[in-house]
Amino acid sequence: MRTALTNDLAQAAEVIRRGGVCAFPTETVYGLGADVFNERAVAKIFDAKHRPADNPLIAHISDKTQIERLASAITPTAAKLIEAFFPGPLTVVLPKTEAVPPIATAGLQTIGIRMPSFELAHRFLELCETPVVAPSANLSGRPSPTTWQAVYEDLAGRIDCILQAEAADIGLESTVVDCTGTTPLLLRKGSVSIEELILVVPDLQTSDVARDEVSRSPGLKHRHYSPRARVVLIDGPGKNDSRNSAAFIGLDRPHREFQSVKVCIDINEYARSVFAFFRECDAKGIEVIYCQTVSELGIGAALMDRLRRAAEE
Ligand code: TXA
Ligand code: MG
Repeated sequence: MRTALTNDLAQAAEVIRRGGVCAFPTETVYGLGADVFNERAVAKIFDAKHRPADNPLIAHISDKTQIERLASAITPTAAKLIEAFFPGPLTVVLPKTEAVPPIATAGLQTIGIRMPSFELAHRFLELCETPVVAPSANLSGRPSPTTWQAVYEDLAGRIDCILQAEAADIGLESTVVDCTGTTPLLLRKGSVSIEELILVVPDLQTSDVARDEVSRSPGLKHRHYSPRARVVLIDGPGKNDSRNSAAFIGLDRPHREFQSVKVCIDINEYARSVFAFFRECDAKGIEVIYCQTVSELGIGAALMDRLRRAAEE
C-alpha cells in the first residue's frame, strides 16, 4: 500500500469517509483514525499497528452533539468533566450505544470519547462527518508519535494517508477518566492534571487506589512507550555511565559527555520532546537513555508515569 502524505484536510477526510485509515495530528500525539461505525476500517487500525485486539480505541469528535451517537448515557460526572475540559486533552469513558461496533471498544460495553482542541484536528474531524476512532499512530509498544515523521517511520506502507502538520504541542497522550461508575476513576494520567480534575470532580479516585484498574482499562497492561534502548531513571543530572552510547534527557545539564543530550527548559518541554528524543536515540543506536525524574505535580505526574513504563524491563 502506498501511504499518501498530504496537508490537504479535505483529502485526508475523504480517506476516512471512504473507509480508509488516516493518521492525523492532535494537541497530544498523532492518532491513527478510522470511521467508528465502519468495522472493516476499524479492523485496519488494529492490523496496521499490530495492536492487541483487547485494547479499546478512543472516539474523537468535533462537536459535543456527536456524543449521543456514541454514549447511551452521560453520567453527571461526565457532564461536569465535558463542560470543564472539552475540547482538550481529556478522554471520558461512558457506556456505549448499540451503534458502536464491538471491535472499536475491544468488546467492552463502554467507549472512550475525546474532543481534541488542536484547530487542525477539529477541522479535519468536522470534514470526516463521523466520529473517528484513533489510537496513537505508532506501532504497538513503540513511543507515541509526536511528529508526522514518527508516524511515517512506524507505519509507512501500512496505512492510507498521513495528514502532515507541526509537532504535537503537549507530547503525552490524553488523561483518561472512567465516568461509568458512581465515582470517577482516573485510568491514565495526562496533561489535564489530577489537581485540575479534582477541582471539578472532588471525588475522583486515582488509579493508585483502584484495584480493578487493569480490567477497566485493558491498554494499561500492555507494554508501552519503549525505545529499543534501555531507559534508566535518575534523580540527578547524570554522571555515572562510562559507555559511549548513552544519552541523557532532563532539566539539568549533565556533568559528563553523552552521545546525545537534551536539556529541557521546563517540564512542558520535557513532556513535549521525550518521545521524539527516544526515537532519535534509537536511530543513533544508543544503548541506554538516562531520564531525569521530575516532581509529580501537574503534567509531571503523567511524564513520570510514561518514564516508568518506558523503564520497565
Ligand atoms: O491523546 C490521546 O488519547 C491519543 C490521541 C490520538 O487522541 N490517543 C491515544 O490512544 O493515546 P491509545 O489507543 O494509544 O490509548 C487509549 C487508552 C488505552 O490505555 C485504552 O486502554 C484506554 O485509553 N481506553 C480506551 N477506551 C477505553 C474504554 N472503553 N475503557 C477503558 N479504557 C479505555
Ligand atoms: Mg497508544
